[in-house]
Amino acid sequence: MGGGCMMGCTSTTVIDPPRGAAFADPPTLPNLSMTPGVVEVNLEAKIAPVNVNGTTANLQTYNGFFPGPTIKVKKGDILKVHFKNSLPYTGVNDMGMPRDMTNLHTHGLHVSPAGNADNVLVHFPSGETFDYEYDLSLHRGGNLNFYHPHVHGNVAEQVWAGQAGALEVADEGTALSGYETHILVLKDITLSGGAPEAHTSADFMNGKEGDTMLVNGQVNPVLAMRPGQVQRWKIVNASNARFYKLSLGSHSLRVVGTDGGLLDKPYTQSTVLLSPGERVDVLVKASSTKGYYKLQALPYNRGAGDSANQQITLMTVNVTGSSLSQNLPAMVDPSATRLNVPANAVTRQITLSMGMGMMGGGSASINGIAFSDTEAYTIVSGRETYEVWEIYNHSMMDHPFHQHVNPAQVISISGGDSAYKSLYTTTPAWKDTVIVPAMGSVKLLVPVKDYGGTTVFHCHILEHEDMGMMGLWDIQ
Ligand code: C2O
Ligand code: CU
Ligand code: CU
Repeated sequence: MGGGCMMGCTSTTVIDPPRGAAFADPPTLPNLSMTPGVVEVNLEAKIAPVNVNGTTANLQTYNGFFPGPTIKVKKGDILKVHFKNSLPYTGVNDMGMPRDMTNLHTHGLHVSPAGNADNVLVHFPSGETFDYEYDLSLHRGGNLNFYHPHVHGNVAEQVWAGQAGALEVADEGTALSGYETHILVLKDITLSGGAPEAHTSADFMNGKEGDTMLVNGQVNPVLAMRPGQVQRWKIVNASNARFYKLSLGSHSLRVVGTDGGLLDKPYTQSTVLLSPGERVDVLVKASSTKGYYKLQALPYNRGAGDSANQQITLMTVNVTGSSLSQNLPAMVDPSATRLNVPANAVTRQITLSMGMGMMGGGSASINGIAFSDTEAYTIVSGRETYEVWEIYNHSMMDHPFHQHVNPAQVISISGGDSAYKSLYTTTPAWKDTVIVPAMGSVKLLVPVKDYGGTTVFHCHILEHEDMGMMGLWDIQ
């Protein structure tokens, strides 16, 4: 197992697989409802054979697809998900959790965390069904979200094994509607004996990275663009632990949206760093010079894992055909603004720590408490208030901090990638997942809006979440 690259790394491993099949978006889940404003889908967690880079493997899928099929809704819709747990009972894992126990989380949706909405505290065993229902009338919209299971103790293994999909809340009538649009689900995996490789205790400490990097389940797919064409890519990092520092050869990435919605205008970046759980919405204007251009993940040292010294070709853009001279928009969402911190905002300190645990394993905690069924660091917030969360990272690796239900704006970041810091601390970006750099800190402005109930915040390196780097958020 790779020790990662702590300090003074010199050699970069180039992972440049041959060009693969034509790029394909994940399939869209069919809407079973005839009622306008209602989207109704069937979602089934089950083991199914999937072709991963030429090898057939039994993965934990949604409806047999890897990644899961995209759920597509619009702002204001009611989303009904008829969920069925068809995972087989295969015993209890090292965290003491029956492996079949699952549920559904709609990462990024500003919806109720109670009842049968985005309630991650309910879960159910093999054979059961559950009807989720989400009212999206207060969700800002125009963003890509991420659905995955959320049973504490099972999250890392189930997402690693394949349970992850995109959930798009469309924008309508914006300056972006005319562009060819694609969804990119970034996910890595390692196979062993026709199944996802099992986690070790070191994987829980470091966060498990795979040896095969996939875009919508494919190795290095080829996406065609015409010279001068502008395409819109909505990208989600659905990996357990791998960070992607994205760069497209000879091209800029124009960021038009972040986790929680659209920005006021495009922000031109040469690289975009995306940690697990984060999404980014970018425009790409193809070169006028035909040829192949690589979308790469450049080395980024998160303090653990092999990705620190890997340069990976994720996808190839083939600029080909007759030219299509499309313009980038000057404005995207003029209503997007940065909020001022209200004088009466409640300020909280949240400290993320890693340590050595029992039997050579690790421990992970928030304000000294490792989340369990009986103990959790709990924040009690009042509805319709603003809070400032100061999040401190007392460990040698980065932690992507994620809170459910209410997206935040980033006031400041200390440490880490400078382009990341400047993008998120100077633009009107809505974020639900933000990298807290190793030994660094982040300050968030969190509007606590609309919904009461109990939900969670946690590290989105899912192994760390399962080890206890999670707290409860009781909104009253
Ligand atoms: Cu994407 Cu609580 O998670
Ligand atoms: Cu979430
Ligand atoms: Cu973490």
